[in-house]
Amino acid sequence: MSNVSHAPIRCEPQNIAVFASGNGSNFLAIHRAIQSGQLHANLVLLVCDKPSAPVIHKAEILGVPTLALSPKDFPDKAAYEQAILKALSEKKVTFIALAGYMRLIGPTLLQAYPNRIVNIHPSLLPAFPGRDAIKQAMEAGVKVTGVTVHVVDESLDNGPIIAQEPVAVFDNDSLEELEARIHETEHDLYPKTLAQLLNHFAKETSHDKTSSHQCI
Ligand code: GRF
Repeated sequence: MSNVSHAPIRCEPQNIAVFASGNGSNFLAIHRAIQSGQLHANLVLLVCDKPSAPVIHKAEILGVPTLALSPKDFPDKAAYEQAILKALSEKKVTFIALAGYMRLIGPTLLQAYPNRIVNIHPSLLPAFPGRDAIKQAMEAGVKVTGVTVHVVDESLDNGPIIAQEPVAVFDNDSLEELEARIHETEHDLYPKTLAQLLNHFAKETSHDKTSSHQCI
């Protein structure tokens, strides 16, 4: 008879970095999910490419370390991403969540974090990639748009899709009303999806890979 326990165990939290360029409502949602225990992770760094972006102030208030670098201060994209990579390594970051980061990720970061960078986009990809996705959907007259979480690759909003949630477009919607419902959906879907992904990666990197323990 085996006396091996199959009880759920608490896996090591992953160290995550959020990359953002703007307002930071998704950054806040991720932070909230960690605080509440929904997301088992350490939010160890906010990376921002716009030193005046509101998200930086939000991170500072919450005590999340920030790295604000202007790409124009570097000779090229590789040098800019090398500087980011150095900070990520120092913080032992294992996973990156893009949350309104308005820049394509280059080979330097993609090679360092294969399948470990995800993005949230405010449409049902592959529809309406790129900027102003909510406005694009409205102008196209669709009755349903939504939110997508996907793996980041070298293309724009085109990596493998992990999760999607539809959002209805009502006939009398203003852009602001639709945006508000999309953001509400993002703030629910992104932490939830990250929790599932991080749980998966924690199990994968756990010391005892043959264990039948489930991470909780
Ligand atoms: C979100 O709509 C996200 O889907 C897109 O950029 C927006 C960022 O919003 N990639 P916020 O800065 O998180 O409020």
